[in-house]
Amino acid sequence: APLRPERRTIALIGLMGVGKSTVGRRLAGRLNLPFVDGDAEIEAAAGMSIPEIFAQLGEPEFRAGEARVMKRLLEGPPIVLATGGGAVLNPDTRTLMKRRAISVWLRAELPVIAERVSRRDTRPLLRGRDPLEALSTLAEARYPIYAEADVVVDVGEGAHGQAVAAVISAL
Ligand code: S3P
Repeated sequence: APLRPERRTIALIGLMGVGKSTVGRRLAGRLNLPFVDGDAEIEAAAGMSIPEIFAQLGEPEFRAGEARVMKRLLEGPPIVLATGGGAVLNPDTRTLMKRRAISVWLRAELPVIAERVSRRDTRPLLRGRDPLEALSTLAEARYPIYAEADVVVDVGEGAHGQAVAAVISAL
């Protein structure tokens, strides 16, 4: 049975490949909230794919656009929001998220994530690099920020259903 609709946005944060979109879509269904993928919104706004934005405009432009999209979504009606792994690097985004959303850090073992991201080649930050090494570098810089989330949920290998249940019980 659908749960009582949440009245706040649920923002999923964490490294690329951890399953924010997969968990988010299922969570949204359970909570009766719309699901929004932040990366897809950026691509729609730019009329380009993420790799194209990085290649043609550069990462700083991507980050600026990402912050604008995050602001629009966080100031809007409640949704389940899958954020890009780097979205919370922006302090304004973090502040807005604190005010307007329940943030949930989806955390998984780095080798599990490395295995997932190796199956697709859509992440400019990993291109041409050893996934585990690149993810470790990102983790080192970002885990202190992700750790500020309201809720932390561990995602096991292929255990997205359990992660959805864990988020719901933590809300
Ligand atoms: C990024 C993560 C990606 C995407 C971009 C940059 C990052 O999103 O926004 O490639 O800095 O971690 P996902 O976390 O949805 O893969």
